[in-house]
Amino acid sequence: MSESKKTSSDSAKKAQTNQSWGGRFNEPVNEFVARFTASVSFDQRLFEQDIKGSIAHATMLAKVGVLSESEKKSIIDGLNEIGTEIRVGDFEWSQQLEDVHMNIESALTARIGDVGKKLHTGRSRNDQVATDIRLWLRDQIDEISILLTGLQKGVTRLALAEHDTIMPGFTHLQTAQPVTFGHHLLAWNEMLERDFGRLLDCRKRLNQSPLGAAALAGTTYPIDRVFTANQLGFDRPSKNSLDSVSDRDFAIEFCAFASLLTMHMSRMSEELILWASAQFQFIDLPDRFCTGSSIMPQKKNPDVPELVRGKTGRVTGHLISLLTLMKSQPLAYNKDNQEDKEPLFDTVDTVQDCLRAFADMVPAIKSNKEKMYAAAKSGFSTATDLADYLVRNGIAFRDAHEIVGKAVAYGIEKNKDLSEMTLKELNVFSSQIAADVFEVLTLEGSVCSRNHIGGTAPDQVKAAAERALENLASR
Ligand code: ARG
Repeated sequence: MSESKKTSSDSAKKAQTNQSWGGRFNEPVNEFVARFTASVSFDQRLFEQDIKGSIAHATMLAKVGVLSESEKKSIIDGLNEIGTEIRVGDFEWSQQLEDVHMNIESALTARIGDVGKKLHTGRSRNDQVATDIRLWLRDQIDEISILLTGLQKGVTRLALAEHDTIMPGFTHLQTAQPVTFGHHLLAWNEMLERDFGRLLDCRKRLNQSPLGAAALAGTTYPIDRVFTANQLGFDRPSKNSLDSVSDRDFAIEFCAFASLLTMHMSRMSEELILWASAQFQFIDLPDRFCTGSSIMPQKKNPDVPELVRGKTGRVTGHLISLLTLMKSQPLAYNKDNQEDKEPLFDTVDTVQDCLRAFADMVPAIKSNKEKMYAAAKSGFSTATDLADYLVRNGIAFRDAHEIVGKAVAYGIEKNKDLSEMTLKELNVFSSQIAADVFEVLTLEGSVCSRNHIGGTAPDQVKAAAERALENLASR
């Protein structure tokens, strides 16, 4: 083979390798491998953050004298034009160019010429992608905290309106003691409040700039990492270059937050589904959150809460995916990390959708006070109140428990609630019972007597709801 022939066939092969790293390669990447290793189909979602990060990097390079002012200007102008092109849908993404970073960089060079190739000075896709995901997730967290606060406000306002609505409280899904509906709703708010705290914690730890870690060891250029961190709204530069490019804790932490939140929402969904059933009839869900059955005309299915309950599974799955993805990975960056995006993106989308659905639905819940009241009355829910009454009159709690147990058995036999028995009937079980017992045997008496911080007394619930609303308004 002549020298010239060999050279031309080599360069033909080279032309098909990726131009960003093809220098040492002698044969083009297999088509399947190109498709298998590419992430552009999903990571193009990071384009805004990628451009923002590149602009900060170029600005810093000019500040420290690595780029001239005019080079900086043409890079930034070019990046902004590419951003516009992507936003209006005129940008052509190429799988051959692997990912969002190389697509944008190659478009930049095509647009502004060789100066575009200088953008990657002192940087690697490893610190670039770590920066992009953090910036992206930070924006999503801010959106989610608004949605979550909105839902909490809806729950708390409903709690205030229902502060004295009596319903049965359950343990083991058996009627236990009467509570107020407002109290139950404030329990939901406590779950959501903890979730909100976890979300803020996650944001705090996430907000460090990996930019400057380069591939893994840092860079030989006189970069200013504090400057780029400030430009991008990070609290500080990250402290260790190896950790910076390999850490995905923030994504896992976010998915852990999301798993807890959706787990909580699945519990709320389950209760809404039960309460809306023909057996409970505690609430009515507006038609727009339900669907009918194509065969059973009487049906009104609570599709929205059912779907929210169902979506918990995929969020928990994503948490496990990411934990497994990171397990046993040696420092520093490994291609495995490219698998972080799809689970994270889907977690964010799912959480936002579930929060939107719930924020819309919760304020529209209509309580059926009569049904709740009747249900609270039917399960001997004031039995503990009678026992406590006997204890106040000098009987030991264990004996009181025994006495009330017998009274309940009698009630079941006669189909009578404790409050429906006459004093004479009650005295069969204990002579210590007087006429004032009926003050505690009524549902109102029962809830009103639990009058302490965190208790179900309507006054406490009202005050707690007001405090919660004040707290939410101050966020
Ligand atoms: N697409 C890659 C990712 O998502 C970007 C970083 C690639 N770095 C590398 N050394 N191959 O993780």
